[in-house]
Amino acid sequence: MKVIVVGSSGFVGTELIRQAITSPAVTSVVALARRETPVPESLKDSSDAAKLTSVVCDDFLNYSDNVKQHLSNADACIWLMAVTPRNSSKMPWDEVRKICSDYTIAGLEELSKAPRNNTTKPLRFVYVSGANAERDQSKKPWVLGDYCLMRGEVETRVLDFAKNSNNAIEAYIVKPGLIRDPQQGNIVTNTFHNVLTSVISLPIVSLHDVAATLLSQATEGIEKETLECDDITRIGGSKQSPEK
Ligand SMILES: NC(=O)c1ccc[n+]([C@@H]2O[C@H](COP(=O)([O-])OP(=O)(O)OC[C@H]3O[C@@H](n4cnc5c(N)ncnc54)[C@H](OP(=O)(O)O)[C@@H]3O)[C@@H](O)[C@H]2O)c1
Repeated sequence: MKVIVVGSSGFVGTELIRQAITSPAVTSVVALARRETPVPESLKDSSDAAKLTSVVCDDFLNYSDNVKQHLSNADACIWLMAVTPRNSSKMPWDEVRKICSDYTIAGLEELSKAPRNNTTKPLRFVYVSGANAERDQSKKPWVLGDYCLMRGEVETRVLDFAKNSNNAIEAYIVKPGLIRDPQQGNIVTNTFHNVLTSVISLPIVSLHDVAATLLSQATEGIEKETLECDDITRIGGSKQSPEK
């Protein structure tokens, strides 16, 4: 199957691309980002880098014809593009909102119009949000309140878009807590994260499990509309990658 990964150049994207090009279920991966998505380092023998096509997009509100062409005939899209809370403090709020919300809906609109040969199945859209994103706009979280409400609002917009898409799109939401790569970090940063996450009640999930869950949702189908951290650990943990 053909999978599109939007926001492929970042932290989660790199691990997701690594797993996707190793997955027998995936025949091609289009990695869409504002810069080139490199082939991940230290690939397993079973990986096939030829499955990966890196596509650079310079306008996520008005896709070029070249980008539109790469969206055609896709079976699934995993949407990782967003401004993370840490980066959101470095830019104007309107810009954060545009990237997190407007770009996502513009992407859905293009995907729902993209030609898809030989299938009447909806395109599977897996939207990665965050554990503390709040859909109920009357319940502002005490930490990063505006950010969490905005990401929750995007979740609702994604689900509503799919429901009104005339079966062109089926949408799912994945809500990780703090994502940790066990290969990186040290005792100081890990301790800091442990304290921080316990203060704001944010679970920690592993990078492997997040990527494996996203890939599983995209390729095998979805067990429920919204996956929380416990689901990510359960599904991701059952998908241990082969050694080679
Ligand atoms: N990391 C975590 O602990 C964590 C926890 C919970 C949820 N999440 C969610 O998981 C998703 C992926 O997170 P991540 O950690 O992989 O984030 P990341 O490393 O910052 O990557 C985000 C992606 O979005 C792109 N992006 C950011 N600003 C952009 C802009 N103005 N125009 C176009 N592209 C832009 C980045 O491009 P560049 O590479 O060029 O910057 C990158 O491809 C996000 O929705 C995030 O909120 C992450």
